Amino acid sequence: MNENIVTLERHILEEQRKYGGRGDFSSVLSQLVFAAKIVSAQVSKAGLVDILGNTGDTNIQGEEVQKLDAYANNVFINALNYIGRVCVMASEEERDIILIPDKYPKGEYVVMFDPLDGSSNVDAGVSIGTIFSIYRRKSKGSGNGDVEDCLQPGYSQYAAGYIIYSTSTIFVYTTGAGVNGFTLDPAVGEFILSYPDIRIPERGKIYSINEGYYNYWKKGTREYIDYLKSDENTIKKPYSLRYIGSLVADFHRNLLYGGIFLYPEDTKDPKKPTGKLRLLYEANPLAYVVEQAGGYASTGYERILDIKPRDLHQRVPLIIGSKLDVLEYEKFAKRNNM
Ligand code: AHG
Ligand code: MN
Ligand code: MN
Repeated sequence: MNENIVTLERHILEEQRKYGGRGDFSSVLSQLVFAAKIVSAQVSKAGLVDILGNTGDTNIQGEEVQKLDAYANNVFINALNYIGRVCVMASEEERDIILIPDKYPKGEYVVMFDPLDGSSNVDAGVSIGTIFSIYRRKSKGSGNGDVEDCLQPGYSQYAAGYIIYSTSTIFVYTTGAGVNGFTLDPAVGEFILSYPDIRIPERGKIYSINEGYYNYWKKGTREYIDYLKSDENTIKKPYSLRYIGSLVADFHRNLLYGGIFLYPEDTKDPKKPTGKLRLLYEANPLAYVVEQAGGYASTGYERILDIKPRDLHQRVPLIIGSKLDVLEYEKFAKRNNM
């Protein structure tokens, strides 16, 4: 084996040696890698097996549950609940926290995830993903964790990352010492280091937003998008609009190329005044990744990672990507959205 080939397993081991861990975190991450391979195998043949379409249920978000949502959710729960390293989980697909079954030992870590992001795109074969966030437990003892373990601010994440199931399956994560990406080689079933030390450009030329909601946005948001397209924008014209409708895919492209993704608050759904995206399962983990790559993530008014979560399914406006672009949006939002 060429010693320059760094598999994700090797990277996890080397990180463990570097930080002198006992291997508990490594086994949590390795199980996430295993679950990602399982989901990737199903996604790649989604059109061939009965895993497309919806289950007929609606989840806590009030959204139709796609079969792949439910499938991926179970894969990640079952990959983590028996290893004795996790004390509690939470999922975008589950109303309450997920306790570890009595028959299994509990551990020090809290794992939360959006098991399948972009699920409305599944039937069309468009890129989708999984987003995960890992904390150390705050609750005392060695039994089950509790909801407070899940409501920690984003800056205390121990690790975070995502998997994108696309033309290739890529596993991107950070443990607070930079961001690395690994591409799955299906021939050997291993993730191989393909994007070492990812850095997002300070300013991009791409903006990602659902322009169909223009009339629902607040004034400052409309003004910012108008500005990007106007002659006033002397920085870099023209920005290109790229919006796939899968957060992980839009985020991953902007992370590599530079750019800004916006899911601002809008007046479309009075039940969701702060926008659609979830703090625990989407905003916090991607905010950790983007800041570790030199970018920034904000609600338009405050840093995402500083928010003290109120509840498991709290939604926040998410403005994320190249630092100078996000800071520029904040000027418009603070001036005319407040
Ligand atoms: P999920 O499939 O986990 O519910 O997430 C879907 C999200 C996100 O992936 C994407 O950015 C956004 O929904 C698109 O929403 P709109 O269709 O309202 O633009
Ligand atoms: Mn999602
Ligand atoms: Mn989802």
